[in-house]
Amino acid sequence: MTQAFCYWFTGLSGAGKSTIAGELVPLLRERGENPFILDGDVLRQGLCRDLGFSEADRTENQRRVAEVAAILLQAGVSPIVAFISPLANAREEARRIVGTERFFEIYINTPLDVAEARDPKGLYKKVRAGLISEFTGISSPFEAPERADCVVPTVDRTPYECARQIVDELGGGKKERN
Ligand code: ADX
Repeated sequence: MTQAFCYWFTGLSGAGKSTIAGELVPLLRERGENPFILDGDVLRQGLCRDLGFSEADRTENQRRVAEVAAILLQAGVSPIVAFISPLANAREEARRIVGTERFFEIYINTPLDVAEARDPKGLYKKVRAGLISEFTGISSPFEAPERADCVVPTVDRTPYECARQIVDELGGGKKERN
């Protein structure tokens, strides 16, 4: 039976996480996995709608999503978790909850100036106008992973190329790595 894995993305707002997650879905299906995207913007409308952007709330956000990811894994589904996930400790907790042998930490590595120039939701403009506080990368920390399972640069690459890299490096599970 094909195994399921948790593809845990981390990266700035506007880094390309949701777009790359969407490109990753058919590539994982080709490998026989059954992927499902857990997207930060979507879960914050329901399961996590009581949470804001303080450090404590972001940590709780990650914990809830990790628990959902663990349930999906039990059902044989591969969660693709597309959250900023800015705090290293919260990512470590997620790894524990999910189980380290099935957890891939994937750094969608887009520099702040590039994410800000893309500004797909117009949020950086609002931040610079003083309308949003505690914004990741500007007024709230982003702790880049030091030992991600996969580091995906996005500058001058298509979302498909980024997703392809993830499958090429991680597809098939941990046994292929080291
Ligand atoms: S996380 O830090 O808790 O992992 P999450 O991915 O759920 O963040 O939500 C981030 C999304 O919320 C951003 O892509 C953006 O659309 C929106 N957002 C609104 N306010 C903020 C803020 N202060 N910091 C970061 N993202 C924000």
